Amino acid sequence: MTLDIQLTKIRQELTLSAEALADIATSFRKAMVEGLAGQPSSLKMLPSFIGLPNGREKGSVIAIDFGGTNVRVIEAELDGAAKIEVRQMKRFPLIDAAAGYNHTNQEADASQLFGFIAARVAEIAKPGASYPLGHTFSFPCEQLGINQARLIHWTKEFRTRGVEGQDIGALLGAALAKAGLAGVKGVAIINDTVGTQLAAAYSQRNIDMASICGTGHNTCYLEPRHPLSGKPMIVNMESGNFDGVPQTRFDVAVDRESERPGAQRLEKMVSGYYLGEVARQVLSTLAVEGVLPASEAFGRKQVLKGIDLDRILADTGALAQTAEVMQRCFGLGSLSAAQLSAVQEVLRLVARRSARLVAASFQGTALHIDPQGAQAHKVAIDGSLYEKMPNYALWLQEALDEMNPASRGRLSTVLAKDGSGIGAAIAAATVGMAP
Ligand code: GLC
Repeated sequence: MTLDIQLTKIRQELTLSAEALADIATSFRKAMVEGLAGQPSSLKMLPSFIGLPNGREKGSVIAIDFGGTNVRVIEAELDGAAKIEVRQMKRFPLIDAAAGYNHTNQEADASQLFGFIAARVAEIAKPGASYPLGHTFSFPCEQLGINQARLIHWTKEFRTRGVEGQDIGALLGAALAKAGLAGVKGVAIINDTVGTQLAAAYSQRNIDMASICGTGHNTCYLEPRHPLSGKPMIVNMESGNFDGVPQTRFDVAVDRESERPGAQRLEKMVSGYYLGEVARQVLSTLAVEGVLPASEAFGRKQVLKGIDLDRILADTGALAQTAEVMQRCFGLGSLSAAQLSAVQEVLRLVARRSARLVAASFQGTALHIDPQGAQAHKVAIDGSLYEKMPNYALWLQEALDEMNPASRGRLSTVLAKDGSGIGAAIAAATVGMAP
């Protein structure tokens, strides 16, 4: 078969019509209702035990932002009038081959991971000072209270031993004590989506949802009357696990090669960690069909990084950047103009599908909180795809508008950069001040 015929087929497989999106939104909403009611659902709908901030939160706090291969530690001051000043912020890698450590794989255990984090807190906290500490921990946790969060299971390919099933608050508390930080008291554990919503709602109105579109993917929203409290509460949906999405043969292959086959179906179709994997599967199929040259790198996991995807998506003219990425990552140095343009189209199809699937999940959430579509809703978003990937934010809005033809812009998005760390600071101040 020719390159053209192959591409037409792939285009059909990876393109989602407005009707398909509307169907996904409807089943997303259904999964939300079932999950909230405690019925079997791919949406975990985890309570956060926190509502929106009111701007009067006050004090000096420490925040930890942990959810990827870097951990950030922040010292911040909230002035009680909706202003937050970040006094110090440092980022530390959890994997450092030169220094000889990797706290994310199965060779590492809980005490090494949390010991490392506590030692980084010690670099930021003023000796002897007291602070409430907010901890963004961006993995699915069963929360029993604002400071009690049991890790259900790792996602994003983390494998550190002795953490699954444990209370993250207790693990961090023990590590802080061991590091001699008696004045630093963990008071809140939140998901990064929740942090993003807290940070955005601190200074803006109508923030009903927050999402991470980066290495991982997940969305939370404010449930107006939570069944547990009868009051407004942010719910971490763990929407990366949503399974009402039509998988292609490429998604099936990505899933099969992942750490936890069957889990995180939506995340494996949309998030930064996996988009390069989906693209690799498509390109490898083109090679098997003989319309791209063969390369053993098609079988190599994580060969295409986010930055490579961005370079290809931003490429114009003679596609020199695409050629460079294909040479560097796959050793394919002499692709024809038609082949380079096919590669770029594949990347575009994969990235655009991601934005459209995410939009469908936002639409489903909006249908749940506002079935009549009476109000405007804003989703605060953090993450590299939304912030940096060429056209991603545009494709997202385009899909939202397609699903709301009569009221374009009613459902919109806004960047909430570094929201997860700031949100942990706000959560710490909220709880730290509570009587
Ligand atoms: C993964 C985690 C989730 C987190 C998301 C974004 O999906 O399970 O808790 O919010 O990544 O970091």
